[in-house]
Amino acid sequence: MKDRVFSGIQPSGNLTIGNYLGALSNFSKQQDKYDCIYCVVDLHAITSGIDPKTLHERSFEIMALYLASGLDPNKSIIFYQSHVPAHAELMWALNVITPLGQLQRMTQFKAKSAKKDEIQAGLLNYPILMAGDIVLYDAKYVPVGDDQRQHIEFTRDLVEKFNGIYGETFIMPEMLKTKSGARIMSLQDPTSKMSKSDEDDKASIFILDEPKRIEKKIKSAVTDSLGNIDYNNEQLGLKNLINIYSAITLKSPEEIVSEYSGKGYGAFKGDLAQIVVEALRPIQENYKEIISDKGELERIYKDGADKANEIASKKLSEVYEKIGFVKK
Ligand code: TYM
Repeated sequence: MKDRVFSGIQPSGNLTIGNYLGALSNFSKQQDKYDCIYCVVDLHAITSGIDPKTLHERSFEIMALYLASGLDPNKSIIFYQSHVPAHAELMWALNVITPLGQLQRMTQFKAKSAKKDEIQAGLLNYPILMAGDIVLYDAKYVPVGDDQRQHIEFTRDLVEKFNGIYGETFIMPEMLKTKSGARIMSLQDPTSKMSKSDEDDKASIFILDEPKRIEKKIKSAVTDSLGNIDYNNEQLGLKNLINIYSAITLKSPEEIVSEYSGKGYGAFKGDLAQIVVEALRPIQENYKEIISDKGELERIYKDGADKANEIASKKLSEVYEKIGFVKK
């Protein structure tokens, strides 16, 4: 039997090239080697306080982008998290064994809650829901961006804890990084990650941005006044642009630096813009076609939910039995 891969993306905003280079571009590559399950994690998305109409639209967009980026429903299971009740049910079982202190120490929780007057329990419990997603399907590999490392570590701790209490039940998952291992940063502030929820539109390149817009955003990306192409921590804006270039072309940063040495930032940015535009073009074209056929989309996600439910409900029964619940 093939090892299983599981990952998910939240429909909480327009997807950026950070989502693409850190995660989505890695999804379709796993389809032939592994048994793949990809989820639109809408239960997670509501922790962001997203309004119902936007959530609904984004949910369709992400499903269409999954397919546009090469996910094949004949090879991978593709579904919405809210269509499989076992995600929320397993979360409760994991919730009761999770130490509160560990949740409070999570960097994402600390960063997000620092901006809020009222901190919701859902934000705190987010990593438990994510851990449940992964272990529900006995996933061995989880393709995610570097910013999710702590959540994967958390999942591993929880697996150890559950297995320690109730006996061997879940397998130990591992993070599957993209070749470049990229963490794409904001184009306007290279010390913070590029995020779909950034209020500054110029900070992120969205997968569905038009070519002109992409060129404009890259041209106005923050660099420095040193003026020489180099890859170091004093030139963080440039470093981020080189990382984007490297993640798409698979050239190493050293190769890129030597290719552009002596050339100005303008020439480098111009080429980078073309590279990004060309990388996104096929996805954008596929997307237009896929989103226009909602009937076909519906058929795909309903079929995905049926298949996911079959696996998940079996695993949940196994978990319930281990816990000692009476079988119905
Ligand atoms: P989300 O929707 O925030 O991000 C989706 C994926 O995109 C990656 N990513 C990035 N990679 C590189 N650079 C960036 N700037 C960047 N921004 C985002 C994220 O690492 C992620 O892989 N918690 C998950 C969603 C989730 C999940 C799961 C993932 C819920 N359950 C189970 C895997 C398995 C998240 O942050 O999604």
